[in-house]
Order: sequence, then structure tokens, then C-alpha cells
Amino acid sequence: MQSFHYKNNELYAENVAIRTITSKFGTPCYIYSRAQIEKNWHEFNDVFGSEPHRICYAVKANSNLAILNILAKLGSGFDIVSGGELERVLAAGGDPAKIVFSGVGKTDSEILRALEVGIFCFNVESEAELEKINQLAEKQNKIAPISLRVNPDIDARTHPYIATGLKENKFGIELSDVMPLCQKIKSLNNIKLISIGCHIGSQLTELDPFLEALDCLLDLIQKLKSAQLDLHYLNLGGGLGIAYRDETPPAISDYISAIRNKLAPSKLELILEPGRIIVANAGILVTKVEYLKHNDHKNFAIVDAGMNDLIRPVLYDAWHNIIPVSEKNGNKTHYDIVGPVCESADFFGKDRELALETGDLLAIMSSGAYGFSMSSNYNSRPRPSEVIVNGDQTHLIRKREKVDDLFALEQIIK
Ligand code: LLP
Repeated sequence: MQSFHYKNNELYAENVAIRTITSKFGTPCYIYSRAQIEKNWHEFNDVFGSEPHRICYAVKANSNLAILNILAKLGSGFDIVSGGELERVLAAGGDPAKIVFSGVGKTDSEILRALEVGIFCFNVESEAELEKINQLAEKQNKIAPISLRVNPDIDARTHPYIATGLKENKFGIELSDVMPLCQKIKSLNNIKLISIGCHIGSQLTELDPFLEALDCLLDLIQKLKSAQLDLHYLNLGGGLGIAYRDETPPAISDYISAIRNKLAPSKLELILEPGRIIVANAGILVTKVEYLKHNDHKNFAIVDAGMNDLIRPVLYDAWHNIIPVSEKNGNKTHYDIVGPVCESADFFGKDRELALETGDLLAIMSSGAYGFSMSSNYNSRPRPSEVIVNGDQTHLIRKREKVDDLFALEQIIK
């Protein structure tokens, strides 16, 4: 099953024409392919064969309940970073025993709730957090399973905003602090150290930084062994990149094989937290051209989606392919594809060669990860609907917001 493809010059999601979907649900609209999500997850999972491993999908990439439910049904675990994501996974039928909880700022109530539902493991990012979890677990008469997230000071060679494994980043525990902290854990009665891990960044397009990070963790594991600390798991985080344009990230199978080969002698079970690679190419944002505008310098296509709906282009300088929903012959011109938001940062692509008319539909490709999940209501714009296609079936998985929804929690004072 091809997820997004042209048939008779019309763009399809699986067996359904995009135009059929937008005529029912309007624009802007996020459209996902269930087959593509499942294919991506299987590609990741199936490389392992019968070898024990844990794939914990990073919920932040796309946290729609229907998508979490699809992944839960495949048997996926989940990587969460907030109490909100925890409740989403539970509401979607995810197994709490397959949840890892990352993040530098876990609050008391988030930790308590995670202990209550019995998550698999807390990815601990500081000594203070370790002490807090121990204290809260003691109150509940529980033993909290934890993994230490190490900051290996490795350059992931990605956009600085999504690099997380360098000393200057707020994430993880400094290498030199890991051994003393592990010694301290021995004296904490309500903590059980089961794993060590790291997540060095996102949209990595090279294998080497992952392998360098793995070497660093394996080194630590050796030292811990000598100190009578035997671990069962190693968590290498997420981060595998996709080709938005002409990047050449490693294939999923090459990435996993390289990691497994290095890991094999240690007999540790691997945990991975993929986000983008599971959902990015399984989603598009479809938008309508409202106006064409020309000046001496530039041609603008003003569309009905805005930076509030998809912030990646301006936040990370991210390039997304932008293609017409109906292919047609006509004179192509260079356009900046911009939204209606009152910021010059409100663009999806610059100098794109397209033949356009007012009313045309455009698809912003590979928007399934960090698209809707990073959207906002800036400029009091209701967020788009989300639709998933499954073969020839279409399901609305999030209604378009209404303006009333935006101020439902506000109150005018007397
Ligand atoms: N594990 C942890 C601890 C993470 O912080 C992240 C992502 C992941 C796993 C999943 O990484 P992935 O496989 O998706 O690369 N908003 C940015 C990406 C931010 C990633 C944050 N952490 C973007 O749109 O590019």
C-alpha cells in the first residue's frame, strides 16, 4: 500500500483522494496514513526477530489518541515527558508497564501518578530528581524502577535546538557524576536501577554519533559491573532522522543492526524511543491557496494554514516538500508559501516552483511528526482537523476546533 501518491494527477492517501477528504472536512487539515504508521513501526520492530527489546514510541511526535491506540495495538511501548502524555497513553489503551518517563522537570504529582499506575521506568536526569522519586516512592511503599539518562557530550550534528547530548544542554547527568550517583543509589531503599541510557538529539542523519554514544554507555556499564551494579537494559533514546529533502539518513535496519552488533556482547536488552521515524512520513498538512500576491521581488502564495499549525519551517529552518493536490500543466513560478499569521516568520517554504491559482490545494509533506503536536492557537486560530485513512476508509480523529473552544476557559471580570 502506497501512503501518499498520485493517481490520474490527483494526490491520494492510500485509496482515498485528498480532495474527497478536504471537501468533507475542510482545510487546513492533517491527513495521516494508517498503513504507513504500521509499516514504519513494524520495520523498526521486526528487525529484532525474537530478540527481547522494547520500542517506546516518543509520544511528543504525535500524540493523537487514535494514533497512540494504533501503536498500542501493535504492542508498542511509549516514551512520555509529562503527566498529560501519561494520561493520553492510558486513555488510548497503552500498557503502563511499557512506559518510560523522560524529561528534566517531572513534578511531584506526575511522579506520584506514574508510580500509581506502575510505569516501566523513570529516565532520571539529575540527582535531585533521583532523591525526589525515592522520597515519593517511599511514601507510597513502592520501589521505583529507574534508568539514569547520561549526557555523553556528543555532537549529534543536527539543528542546535534539537541537539540534547552536549554539555551545554540541560539534559542528562554529566559523565563524571554517573558513578558516584550509582553508588548513592545503593543507599536509596525505594529505587531500583535497571538501566542506563541517553538521547543525544533528533533528526540525526548519520550513524556515527549514535555509535559513539553507545560506546560511551558501554564503557560506563563495564565500570558499573566492577562496582557490583548489574543492569538489565540500555536505552539509546530516539533520534533517527528522515529524508525531508536530500538527507541520506541510515536505513532503519542498518541503524538497528549496527547498534545490536555493538551491544551483543553485553547481553543487555535494548530500549529505543523513536518518534519522528514512526509518524513523520505518515502525515501531510493540506492547505488551500487563498490569495496570490506579487511584488517587484517576490510572488507569494498565501495559504489558509499558518505557523501556528506547523511551526517546524521557521523554528528549525526545516524544509518540507510542498506539492499540489491536483497536478496540472501551467507556467511555474517561484513562490514563497506563507500563512495568514501576522509575523514574517509565518512561512512554509521559500522560492518553491509551482503553477498556482487561487483555490488550489497544497500538501505540505512529512508533517506527521511534530506538526499537530506543536501547534498552537496563536492569532486565535482554531487548530485544524485531523483525519486518518485506512485503505478506502476515512476517519476523523480530531475535530476542527471552533473559536468558542478557544475561549471556553476564559472569564470576563466585573
Ligand atoms: N526520547 C527523548 C528523551 C526525546 O527527547 C525525544 C525527542 C525522542 C526520544 C524522540 O526523538 P525522535 O525519534 O522523534 O527524533 N520538535 C523537533 C524535535 C524535538 C525532539 C525532542 N525530543 C522537530 O520538529 O524537529
